[in-house]
Amino acid sequence: SKNALLSGKRIMITAGPTREAIDPVRYISNHSSGKMGYAIAKAAVELGAKVTLVSGPVNILPPENVEVESVVSAQQMYDAVMSDIGSHDIFIACAAVADYRVDNASNHKMKKNKDDGLTLSFIQNPDILKSVAALDTAPFTVGFAAETQDMIEYAKSKLIRKKLNMIAANDVSKPGLGFNSDKNALIVITPEKEYELAQASKDSLAVNLLRLVEREYQETQK
Ligand code: PMT
Repeated sequence: SKNALLSGKRIMITAGPTREAIDPVRYISNHSSGKMGYAIAKAAVELGAKVTLVSGPVNILPPENVEVESVVSAQQMYDAVMSDIGSHDIFIACAAVADYRVDNASNHKMKKNKDDGLTLSFIQNPDILKSVAALDTAPFTVGFAAETQDMIEYAKSKLIRKKLNMIAANDVSKPGLGFNSDKNALIVITPEKEYELAQASKDSLAVNLLRLVEREYQETQK
């Protein structure tokens, strides 16, 4: 409805893992299921937003009324985000993007060497979140920080270093929370404030996260 909290707002969300090819049949990835990002997309639609979901490969269905752009690698996710971000008011980076890709990915299936080990070399992928936040006409930019130690400290340094409006710190060392589970817990940090979103379903956390995003977004529009 026109009175919904995010009515008329255009939100882009990244979700899921990326896959970085080693050769045509093998890849490096991570445990992201896409559940958190898809829950945010669903909640954003329910709150009245127009949603673009840029998704890595996942095994869940996208929510209804969301424009989905499917990608595989970090470079593809970067290209999809950067070509379309201009028309969005808010960007939420929930994807678990590979920081590195294999430098010398093979065009053919690699063969096993009888006695030798295998050494791969890596180069850095572009940082999607940092690139969006650095745009001249950057949207309100929200990052996630998946950490296994010193969570708040690392999240705050990401907030400042990447010039974000907000970061959701996600302790991924606790069993049953974070990667691939149905529940999560977040500490949401802005340059001035800190909010705790206690353990809950990803669906309900998504709504509460978006309420904070909307409140802080309005502050930047004053
Ligand atoms: O998908 P689920 O199974 O539901 O799990 C949810 C989740 C744990 C993946 C999610 O809640 C989460 O924490 N996502 C961020 C995971 C991550 O890769 O965090 P990071 O600290 O490595 O990255 C920091 C931020 O930079 C993230 O917003 C990430 O999307 C972004 N990034 C990172 C690297 C890169 N090249 N480009 C990016 O945009």
